[in-house]
Amino acid sequence: MSAMRILSVVGARPQFIKAAPVSRALRQRCHEVLVHSGQHYDSAMSDVFFEQLGIPAPDHELGIGSGRHGEQTAAMLAAIEALLIDLAPDAVLVYGDTNTTLAGGLAAAKLGVPVVHVEAGLRSFNRAMPEEINRVVVDHLSELLFCPTQVAADNLAAEGIRKGVHVVGDVMLDTLRLFAGHEAAGSHVPAAFGVEPGRYHLATVHRAANADDPDALARLIEGFERIGEPVLWAVHPRTHARLAEFGLAPAVERAKNLRVLEPVPYLETIGLLRAAKTLLTDSGGMQKEAYFFGVPCVTLRDETEWVETVELGWNTLVGTDPDRIAQASLHPRRPSERPPVYGDGHAAERIADVIVTHLRER
Ligand code: UD1
Repeated sequence: MSAMRILSVVGARPQFIKAAPVSRALRQRCHEVLVHSGQHYDSAMSDVFFEQLGIPAPDHELGIGSGRHGEQTAAMLAAIEALLIDLAPDAVLVYGDTNTTLAGGLAAAKLGVPVVHVEAGLRSFNRAMPEEINRVVVDHLSELLFCPTQVAADNLAAEGIRKGVHVVGDVMLDTLRLFAGHEAAGSHVPAAFGVEPGRYHLATVHRAANADDPDALARLIEGFERIGEPVLWAVHPRTHARLAEFGLAPAVERAKNLRVLEPVPYLETIGLLRAAKTLLTDSGGMQKEAYFFGVPCVTLRDETEWVETVELGWNTLVGTDPDRIAQASLHPRRPSERPPVYGDGHAAERIADVIVTHLRER
């Protein structure tokens, strides 16, 4: 084994999911130091993912927690910088588009440590999203950029980034390949939640534009109610807090078809998703997971980074319009084709191979 050291920074739920296969592949080829920023800290948002996905315990837990964007990112930046000075890794690997991604990428770039970005090149072209700012900045700081799709590589090329770009497929498909057969993700899951396969909808909401806007949140609840069929809503702690703050708990109560759940762990989410009639979501990752399982997705946003799912007819963008939410959910499109636009579920091995070769030749 090479003495090469890669420091990977994770902190939010989707990053734990992406780290599971990448961490495995890295550890077969070099030394990985895993850092948890603490952006997500509730056990249901963090620990349970490490346990279910067999991710090694973080070597360093920064414990930063929640805060305003600047405050949270700055605290992570300072802590990661100190760690990088101490550990002098050969590269820093970051995932996706959260504040943790930005802090890890920026700390490394400023110290001249090569930045590796997994899930590079995604664009919503909506700068009002904090995630869009994070991804654009990190892509421009990165030396190696791993794109899930050709569209992502084309987005980078349009911004003048061509060097170090590799289209490898989507690592979330790797995670599914590794865990979809797990007992706890099996066909018994819907019954455990009191619903029948194919006769319920799964919903998630956490984007700032939806969760922090009382009108948007109220329209979403109204849309869910209009579906009339059972809707299981796995509520993110952020959204949970807003529902109470905006006085929307009674509206949720009134919607008899709507059942609110605590955050659901990875394997049970897979079990619920694969048998759902539709997925209603503003999550990025889950739009793809629905596609992988052939479950129509109703996206509660006006745009998406995962344009292939829309172009292929498996995803409908409805924003927060209650009628469109109900129509798209009651009469979902199920095209006959579902081509493998996100790769073959072996992206992580490719990523690890390219990193090791690149750093050796650097
Ligand atoms: C973050 C990412 C988003 C990603 C999402 C995945 C940014 C800007 N946003 O959004 O891109 O899609 O993670 O889930 O990085 N909270 C808890 N417990 C936790 C974590 C959060 O109660 O363990 C609450 C806090 O009130 C916190 C709020 O949720 O202020 C928002 O958390 P934060 O990590 O800032 O953003 P997310 O909405 O989770």
